[in-house]
Amino acid sequence: MEDNEVTILEIVTIGNPVLNRKADKIKNIDQRVHDLAQRMIKTMHSAPGLGLAAPQVNQSIQLITVDISAGENNTDLIVLANPEILHTEGETILEEGCLSVPGINEKVTRPYHVVIKGIDLDGKEKIIEAEDLLARIFCHEIDHVNGKLFIEHLSPLKKNLIRKKLQKQQDKDIRE
Ligand code: NI
Repeated sequence: MEDNEVTILEIVTIGNPVLNRKADKIKNIDQRVHDLAQRMIKTMHSAPGLGLAAPQVNQSIQLITVDISAGENNTDLIVLANPEILHTEGETILEEGCLSVPGINEKVTRPYHVVIKGIDLDGKEKIIEAEDLLARIFCHEIDHVNGKLFIEHLSPLKKNLIRKKLQKQQDKDIRE
């Protein structure tokens, strides 16, 4: 598929049940997975975002795209099927957002260092070590394929406030 034939996908937002479901493991890295990956990359870059998970484009399969350079360096682009965390170390707190939770940015505690594993588009197993922001992006996207949004890491009080804020936004969108 030529890049100009790659279409951007619609990003689903909080409230859509696909975001709360554990996505299916990918058995074969076939053409369908390659095509979806290309579309996810383009969608992530144009959003723009540093990571995207297939459930966010309404595909309940375990596929993530990550690009800490936001499209600046090809070598930073990572696509992984069936990603999982093997090891974590340390702790860091940083404000985080999500394309599927628009308008909400909150501080989230994440591991400083992670070792993850997954399968790349050539079907090869990959072990990746990451720290700081990149580790955070991996944790965030791996949460997505497990049906978890970043706000679930917050205190019940914070979650309640966010729910109310999102409800207000929705009510406003309906009135307008
Ligand atoms: Ni997200």
